[in-house]
Amino acid sequence: MSYVLETVNLVKKFGGLVAVNSVNIKIRRNNITMLIGPNGAGKTTFVNVCTGVLKPDSGRVYFNPVNDERRKIEITGWPPHRVYSSGFVRTFQIPQPFLALTVLENVLVALGGKGENPLIAPLRWLWIRDEEDRVVRAFEILRKVGLEEYWDREAYKLGAGQLKMLEVARALATGAKLVALDEPIGGTDPAYAHEIFKHIRDLVKYIDVTFLVIEHRIDIALPFADYVYVMDRGSVISEGTPNEIANDPKVIEVYLGGQ
Ligand SMILES: Nc1ncnc2c1ncn2[C@@H]1O[C@H](COP(=O)(O)OP(=O)(O)OP(=O)(O)O)[C@@H](O)[C@H]1O
Ligand SMILES: [Mg+2]
Repeated sequence: MSYVLETVNLVKKFGGLVAVNSVNIKIRRNNITMLIGPNGAGKTTFVNVCTGVLKPDSGRVYFNPVNDERRKIEITGWPPHRVYSSGFVRTFQIPQPFLALTVLENVLVALGGKGENPLIAPLRWLWIRDEEDRVVRAFEILRKVGLEEYWDREAYKLGAGQLKMLEVARALATGAKLVALDEPIGGTDPAYAHEIFKHIRDLVKYIDVTFLVIEHRIDIALPFADYVYVMDRGSVISEGTPNEIANDPKVIEVYLGGQ
Protein backbone atom coordinates (compact mmCIF):
# COMPACT_ATOMS: atom_id res chain seq x y z
CA MET A 1 0.00 0.00 0.00
CA SER A 2 1.39 3.34 -0.99
CA TYR A 3 0.66 6.43 1.05
CA VAL A 4 0.91 9.94 -0.30
CA LEU A 5 0.84 11.54 3.16
CA GLU A 6 1.67 10.23 6.60
CA THR A 7 1.63 12.07 9.88
CA VAL A 8 3.34 10.72 12.97
CA ASN A 9 2.18 11.87 16.40
CA LEU A 10 1.32 15.32 15.11
CA VAL A 11 0.55 17.86 17.83
CA LYS A 12 -0.72 21.44 17.67
CA LYS A 13 -1.61 23.43 20.74
CA PHE A 14 -3.24 26.83 21.11
CA GLY A 15 -2.23 27.88 24.62
CA GLY A 16 -3.70 25.20 26.89
CA LEU A 17 -5.92 23.74 24.17
CA VAL A 18 -4.58 20.70 22.33
CA ALA A 19 -6.29 21.19 18.96
CA VAL A 20 -4.41 18.30 17.31
CA ASN A 21 -3.44 15.61 19.80
CA SER A 22 -0.85 13.14 18.55
CA VAL A 23 -2.60 12.44 15.27
CA ASN A 24 -1.45 9.61 12.99
CA ILE A 25 -3.12 9.72 9.62
CA LYS A 26 -2.14 7.91 6.44
CA ILE A 27 -3.58 8.89 3.10
CA ARG A 28 -3.62 6.28 0.37
CA ARG A 29 -2.65 7.27 -3.14
CA ASN A 30 -5.34 7.80 -5.79
CA ASN A 31 -7.94 7.76 -3.15
CA ILE A 32 -10.48 9.96 -1.43
CA THR A 33 -9.72 10.12 2.27
CA MET A 34 -12.31 11.91 4.32
CA LEU A 35 -11.74 13.62 7.63
CA ILE A 36 -14.92 14.11 9.61
CA GLY A 37 -15.85 15.10 13.13
CA PRO A 38 -17.92 17.61 15.06
CA ASN A 39 -17.22 21.35 15.25
CA GLY A 40 -13.92 22.16 16.88
CA ALA A 41 -12.60 18.60 16.45
CA GLY A 42 -9.33 19.91 14.99
CA LYS A 43 -9.86 19.00 11.32
CA THR A 44 -8.95 22.37 9.84
CA THR A 45 -6.05 22.78 12.25
CA PHE A 46 -4.72 19.37 11.20
CA VAL A 47 -4.75 20.36 7.53
CA ASN A 48 -3.22 23.74 8.36
CA VAL A 49 -0.34 22.07 10.19
CA CYS A 50 0.24 19.62 7.33
CA THR A 51 0.26 22.37 4.69
CA GLY A 52 2.52 24.75 6.60
CA VAL A 53 -0.14 27.34 7.41
CA LEU A 54 0.56 26.54 11.09
CA LYS A 55 3.70 25.12 12.67
CA PRO A 56 3.28 21.91 14.66
CA ASP A 57 4.42 21.71 18.29
CA SER A 58 5.72 18.21 17.67
CA GLY A 59 5.37 15.25 15.36
CA ARG A 60 6.24 14.69 11.74
CA VAL A 61 4.65 14.99 8.32
CA TYR A 62 5.85 12.93 5.35
CA PHE A 63 4.82 13.54 1.77
CA ASN A 64 5.37 11.08 -1.03
CA PRO A 65 4.27 12.87 -4.21
CA VAL A 66 5.12 10.09 -6.65
CA ASN A 67 4.78 6.39 -6.13
CA ASP A 68 8.39 5.94 -5.09
CA GLU A 69 9.45 5.48 -1.47
CA ARG A 70 12.85 7.00 -2.27
CA ARG A 71 11.18 10.29 -3.19
CA LYS A 72 9.35 10.51 0.13
CA ILE A 73 10.11 13.82 1.80
CA GLU A 74 9.66 15.13 5.29
CA ILE A 75 7.73 18.39 5.07
CA THR A 76 7.28 19.04 8.79
CA GLY A 77 7.23 22.77 9.43
CA TRP A 78 7.85 23.74 5.81
CA PRO A 79 6.46 27.14 4.84
CA PRO A 80 3.17 26.95 2.89
CA HIS A 81 4.64 27.96 -0.48
CA ARG A 82 7.19 25.18 -0.27
CA VAL A 83 4.56 22.55 0.58
CA TYR A 84 2.47 23.89 -2.27
CA SER A 85 5.33 23.73 -4.79
CA SER A 86 6.10 20.18 -3.74
CA GLY A 87 2.61 19.15 -4.92
CA PHE A 88 0.47 19.24 -1.78
CA VAL A 89 -2.11 21.93 -2.34
CA ARG A 90 -4.73 23.27 -0.04
CA THR A 91 -7.21 24.99 -2.30
CA PHE A 92 -7.23 28.28 -0.49
CA GLN A 93 -3.45 28.48 -0.85
CA ILE A 94 -3.78 28.98 -4.57
CA PRO A 95 -4.40 32.65 -5.22
CA GLN A 96 -8.17 33.05 -5.19
CA PRO A 97 -9.91 32.81 -8.54
CA PHE A 98 -9.90 36.12 -10.35
CA LEU A 99 -13.60 36.74 -10.42
CA ALA A 100 -13.45 39.07 -13.41
CA LEU A 101 -11.54 36.53 -15.50
CA THR A 102 -13.22 33.70 -17.33
CA VAL A 103 -13.09 30.09 -16.19
CA LEU A 104 -10.52 29.28 -18.89
CA GLU A 105 -8.33 32.27 -18.04
CA ASN A 106 -8.33 31.27 -14.38
CA VAL A 107 -6.99 27.83 -15.24
CA LEU A 108 -4.42 29.31 -17.63
CA VAL A 109 -3.09 31.55 -14.87
CA ALA A 110 -2.69 28.52 -12.59
CA LEU A 111 -0.91 26.60 -15.35
CA GLY A 112 1.67 29.37 -15.62
CA GLY A 113 3.80 29.44 -18.71
CA LYS A 114 6.84 30.66 -20.51
CA GLY A 115 5.11 33.83 -21.68
CA GLU A 116 5.28 35.14 -18.13
CA ASN A 117 9.03 34.67 -17.97
CA PRO A 118 10.54 38.08 -18.85
CA LEU A 119 13.60 36.43 -20.39
CA ILE A 120 11.55 34.33 -22.77
CA ALA A 121 8.63 36.70 -23.37
CA PRO A 122 10.33 38.54 -26.25
CA LEU A 123 10.82 35.30 -28.16
CA ARG A 124 7.28 35.18 -29.46
CA TRP A 125 7.78 32.08 -31.59
CA LEU A 126 8.74 30.13 -28.49
CA TRP A 127 5.72 30.94 -26.42
CA ILE A 128 2.95 31.01 -29.05
CA ARG A 129 3.31 27.25 -29.28
CA ASP A 130 3.46 27.03 -25.51
CA GLU A 131 0.31 29.13 -25.27
CA GLU A 132 -1.56 26.72 -27.56
CA ASP A 133 -0.44 23.75 -25.46
CA ARG A 134 -1.63 25.48 -22.31
CA VAL A 135 -5.08 26.11 -23.78
CA VAL A 136 -5.36 22.44 -24.75
CA ARG A 137 -4.29 21.36 -21.26
CA ALA A 138 -6.65 23.85 -19.63
CA PHE A 139 -9.58 22.44 -21.61
CA GLU A 140 -8.60 18.90 -20.63
CA ILE A 141 -8.72 19.90 -16.98
CA LEU A 142 -12.02 21.76 -17.37
CA ARG A 143 -13.55 18.71 -19.01
CA LYS A 144 -12.46 16.56 -16.07
CA VAL A 145 -14.11 18.82 -13.51
CA GLY A 146 -17.27 19.34 -15.56
CA LEU A 147 -16.70 23.02 -16.33
CA GLU A 148 -15.88 22.78 -20.02
CA GLU A 149 -19.14 24.31 -21.19
CA TYR A 150 -18.58 27.33 -18.93
CA TRP A 151 -15.09 28.07 -20.24
CA ASP A 152 -15.89 31.62 -21.34
CA ARG A 153 -18.01 32.55 -18.32
CA GLU A 154 -16.60 35.05 -15.84
CA ALA A 155 -15.87 33.37 -12.53
CA TYR A 156 -18.18 35.74 -10.62
CA LYS A 157 -21.15 34.29 -12.52
CA LEU A 158 -20.50 30.76 -11.24
CA GLY A 159 -22.49 29.13 -8.45
CA ALA A 160 -20.83 28.11 -5.17
CA GLY A 161 -20.33 24.51 -6.31
CA GLN A 162 -18.92 25.50 -9.69
CA LEU A 163 -16.48 27.85 -7.98
CA LYS A 164 -15.32 24.91 -5.85
CA MET A 165 -14.72 22.88 -8.99
CA LEU A 166 -12.83 25.82 -10.47
CA GLU A 167 -10.60 25.73 -7.37
CA VAL A 168 -10.04 22.01 -7.95
CA ALA A 169 -9.26 22.70 -11.63
CA ARG A 170 -6.71 25.31 -10.61
CA ALA A 171 -5.14 22.93 -8.09
CA LEU A 172 -4.79 20.30 -10.84
CA ALA A 173 -3.31 22.93 -13.15
CA THR A 174 -0.51 23.56 -10.65
CA GLY A 175 0.36 19.86 -10.91
CA ALA A 176 -0.91 18.99 -7.44
CA LYS A 177 -0.64 15.35 -6.39
CA LEU A 178 -2.53 15.79 -3.14
CA VAL A 179 -5.39 18.25 -2.85
CA ALA A 180 -6.93 19.15 0.50
CA LEU A 181 -10.49 20.40 0.31
CA ASP A 182 -12.06 21.95 3.40
CA GLU A 183 -15.81 21.50 3.09
CA PRO A 184 -16.09 21.46 -0.70
CA ILE A 185 -19.86 21.15 -0.69
CA GLY A 186 -20.51 23.89 1.86
CA GLY A 187 -23.16 26.23 0.47
CA THR A 188 -24.27 23.96 -2.37
CA ASP A 189 -27.57 22.16 -2.69
CA PRO A 190 -27.57 18.36 -2.28
CA ALA A 191 -27.97 17.65 -6.01
CA TYR A 192 -24.88 19.66 -6.92
CA ALA A 193 -23.03 18.28 -3.89
CA HIS A 194 -23.43 14.83 -5.43
CA GLU A 195 -22.14 16.18 -8.74
CA ILE A 196 -19.05 17.59 -7.04
CA PHE A 197 -18.24 14.27 -5.42
CA LYS A 198 -18.86 12.38 -8.65
CA HIS A 199 -16.31 14.56 -10.40
CA ILE A 200 -13.81 14.06 -7.58
CA ARG A 201 -14.37 10.29 -7.82
CA ASP A 202 -13.72 10.41 -11.56
CA LEU A 203 -10.56 12.44 -11.03
CA VAL A 204 -8.98 9.88 -8.71
CA LYS A 205 -9.98 7.17 -11.14
CA TYR A 206 -8.46 8.74 -14.23
CA ILE A 207 -5.54 10.84 -13.06
CA ASP A 208 -2.73 10.58 -10.56
CA VAL A 209 -4.23 12.70 -7.82
CA THR A 210 -5.38 12.12 -4.26
CA PHE A 211 -7.91 14.05 -2.21
CA LEU A 212 -8.15 14.77 1.48
CA VAL A 213 -11.65 16.03 2.08
CA ILE A 214 -12.88 17.61 5.29
CA GLU A 215 -16.61 17.34 5.43
CA HIS A 216 -19.51 18.14 7.65
CA ARG A 217 -22.41 16.84 5.64
CA ILE A 218 -21.50 13.20 6.10
CA ASP A 219 -24.89 11.97 4.91
CA ILE A 220 -23.96 13.18 1.41
CA ALA A 221 -20.19 12.82 1.53
CA LEU A 222 -19.50 9.51 3.25
CA PRO A 223 -20.57 7.20 0.40
CA PHE A 224 -17.93 8.82 -1.82
CA ALA A 225 -15.03 8.19 0.55
CA ASP A 226 -12.60 5.31 0.24
CA TYR A 227 -11.35 5.70 3.76
CA VAL A 228 -12.46 7.84 6.68
CA TYR A 229 -10.83 9.28 9.78
CA VAL A 230 -13.01 10.61 12.55
CA MET A 231 -11.65 13.28 14.89
CA ASP A 232 -13.12 14.49 18.14
CA ARG A 233 -11.54 17.03 20.50
CA GLY A 234 -8.15 16.82 18.82
CA SER A 235 -7.83 13.04 18.57
CA VAL A 236 -8.59 10.42 15.96
CA ILE A 237 -11.33 8.33 17.56
CA SER A 238 -12.07 6.00 14.67
CA GLU A 239 -10.93 5.08 11.16
CA GLY A 240 -12.10 2.71 8.48
CA THR A 241 -14.31 2.36 5.44
CA PRO A 242 -17.49 4.45 5.33
CA ASN A 243 -19.42 1.37 6.35
CA GLU A 244 -17.20 0.63 9.33
CA ILE A 245 -17.37 4.24 10.44
CA ALA A 246 -21.14 4.44 10.14
CA ASN A 247 -21.46 1.41 12.41
CA ASP A 248 -18.89 2.40 15.00
CA PRO A 249 -20.63 3.19 18.31
CA LYS A 250 -17.92 5.78 19.17
CA VAL A 251 -18.74 7.70 15.99
CA ILE A 252 -22.46 7.45 16.49
CA GLU A 253 -21.91 8.76 20.01
CA VAL A 254 -20.02 11.91 18.95
CA TYR A 255 -22.45 12.66 16.16
CA LEU A 256 -25.68 11.83 17.89
CA GLY A 257 -24.71 11.48 21.54
CA GLY A 258 -24.04 14.69 23.36
CA GLN A 259 -25.69 16.93 20.70
N1 LIG B 1 -5.89 30.18 15.53
C1 LIG B 1 -6.46 29.63 16.62
N2 LIG B 1 -6.22 30.11 17.85
C2 LIG B 1 -6.78 29.55 18.94
N3 LIG B 1 -7.59 28.49 18.91
C3 LIG B 1 -7.88 27.96 17.70
C4 LIG B 1 -7.33 28.51 16.49
N4 LIG B 1 -7.79 27.77 15.46
C5 LIG B 1 -8.59 26.82 15.97
N5 LIG B 1 -8.65 26.93 17.32
C6 LIG B 1 -9.36 26.03 18.23
O1 LIG B 1 -8.89 24.72 17.98
C7 LIG B 1 -9.95 23.78 18.03
C8 LIG B 1 -10.01 23.05 16.70
O2 LIG B 1 -10.50 23.95 15.71
P1 LIG B 1 -10.62 23.57 14.18
O3 LIG B 1 -11.01 24.80 13.46
O4 LIG B 1 -9.39 22.87 13.75
O5 LIG B 1 -11.83 22.53 14.21
P2 LIG B 1 -12.65 21.90 13.00
O6 LIG B 1 -12.72 20.44 13.27
O7 LIG B 1 -12.11 22.35 11.71
O8 LIG B 1 -14.10 22.52 13.28
P3 LIG B 1 -15.24 22.98 12.22
O9 LIG B 1 -15.97 21.73 11.87
O10 LIG B 1 -16.10 23.89 13.04
O11 LIG B 1 -14.60 23.65 11.06
C9 LIG B 1 -11.20 24.57 18.37
O12 LIG B 1 -11.42 24.48 19.74
C10 LIG B 1 -10.86 25.98 17.95
O13 LIG B 1 -11.56 26.91 18.73
MG1 LIG C 1 -12.92 23.44 10.14
